[in-house]
Amino acid sequence: MLKNYAPTQTNAWKKLEAHFAEVQPQHLRDLFANDPQRFEKFAFHFEDTLFDLSKNRITEETLDLLTELAEEMEVKAAIESMFSGEKINATEGRVVLHTALRNFTDQQLEVDGENALQEVRDVQQQMKAFCSKLHSGEWTGYTGKRIQSIVNIGIGGSDLGPKMVVEALKKYQKPELEVYFVSNVDGTDAAETLRRLDPETTLFIIASKTFTTKETLANAHTARDWFLEQAKDKEHIKKHFVALSTNTEAVAAFGIAPENTFRFWDWVGGRFSLWSAIGLSVACALGYDRFEELLRGAEAMDKHFRQTPLRQNIPVLMGLLSTWYTDLFGAQTHAILPYDQYLRLLPEYLQQLLMESNGKSASRNGDTVNYQTQPVIWGAAGTNSQHSFFQLIHQGTYLIPCDFIAPAQSHNPIGQHHLMLLSNFFAQTEALMKGKTAEEVREEFRQKSGTVTEEQEQLVQHKVFEGNKPSTSIMFKKLTPYTLGSLIAMYEHKVFVQGVIWNIYSFDQWGVELGKQLAGTIEKEILEGAAGKHDSSTNGLIAYYNQNRS
Ligand code: F6P
Repeated sequence: MLKNYAPTQTNAWKKLEAHFAEVQPQHLRDLFANDPQRFEKFAFHFEDTLFDLSKNRITEETLDLLTELAEEMEVKAAIESMFSGEKINATEGRVVLHTALRNFTDQQLEVDGENALQEVRDVQQQMKAFCSKLHSGEWTGYTGKRIQSIVNIGIGGSDLGPKMVVEALKKYQKPELEVYFVSNVDGTDAAETLRRLDPETTLFIIASKTFTTKETLANAHTARDWFLEQAKDKEHIKKHFVALSTNTEAVAAFGIAPENTFRFWDWVGGRFSLWSAIGLSVACALGYDRFEELLRGAEAMDKHFRQTPLRQNIPVLMGLLSTWYTDLFGAQTHAILPYDQYLRLLPEYLQQLLMESNGKSASRNGDTVNYQTQPVIWGAAGTNSQHSFFQLIHQGTYLIPCDFIAPAQSHNPIGQHHLMLLSNFFAQTEALMKGKTAEEVREEFRQKSGTVTEEQEQLVQHKVFEGNKPSTSIMFKKLTPYTLGSLIAMYEHKVFVQGVIWNIYSFDQWGVELGKQLAGTIEKEILEGAAGKHDSSTNGLIAYYNQNRS
């Protein structure tokens, strides 16, 4: 089990604070200038993926001390507790075994008296058979036509993961199927998707771990009504609706046949579920074999995470760096910057993964922590982001650690595009690190006009880049299902390490409940025309809506 112990009570923490005082004034520019081996010292390799940590504000001692912190916080034992199926999700009384979904060994892993790995295999076989029928055309709609469109209806973890993966691996997509995602309870989402579709050739995947999520059920009912408006007979539902859920009773009550239900288990967290039946839309889009490659990439990262010593362990180091910046430097946000159009949804996906997991302030014994936990995750694809928010990263007042992510090879090698893209990637990490001094700005003026005029001198401070902005660069050969699987698993394990260090529970999400409860109450009050007991602002907003709703 995970123990309750504040990181700030460790010996390593005290050493880290003293060490921080030494590192903080140092400039990355000097750290590079003084050590020609800096890249080699901080470049970590996982198969063909390079994790370059050298542009972080660290020294070798930093990583040694962070590793000491991980040792004192018993990260190694915590990893074992997770993989071996201990109930580390204590606030929900559950084991945490998303890693079992991509475990291809013939191990036994008992959960509640069943071999979890066998259950996983059974559902995988069911998914494989379904995909094969769909792709061969054996599975048809109620009028005998081939299915041409798949619509995944789900939200949060039942949407963001599969949507991001389908987008990221578009190049591998089966040409005969279009895949759509509907998540928002805003009727516009369903309306704008449905108007493009034909009920005779559309199959809906209702993805919900609990099958109680209001948004998903509302969208599922809308889809069913839309379908039945044309198909009429409820018997036809079984050719057009399948469900992915742990709640098989609620699925049956909705009217989806048991043979069209793909199960998973409460030991798979929603935001860790894309490897489970929740990945069915991915398997449909790419073919089951590609989906399996994704799982195998994740499995390889799982092995690295479980077996590699902490000091060389990539997700461990990534998690520790987060503590270093959040708690020592006081960084409040962290940017995810994929230089790959296919990965443009990665920041959104990681927002849920990291912030829903570690956006907590109660320590494992329920006390309020007296240090910072999860920073805000944000970001967007480069180079577009360079023309929107990079200004702030370069010259704003916040320290924002960044992850730059890019493939060496493009799936679309057109002209010099990829070279240009990567040149920007390299240039930005260099510029953030080095910055530009006042003297360098003046020298530029001199180069142009031989002197620095008074007017130009006024501009100097505006053109200075402080630099010393940390970044981690992640590069891989090509974005394949396998590589993507390993990258996602790396971030999942980073989340885990952060949670262990921050002494919080990463696998619950009680923080989303209050808003859900209140929404239910308010919806009922509005429908019944009843006055609720709210504050004056909420009452005023409801009154505005009532006055203007039609
Ligand atoms: O937002 C809370 C949450 O429970 C997420 O953790 C989850 O991914 C999402 O809702 C959807 O839940 P479900 O898959 O049960 O519909």
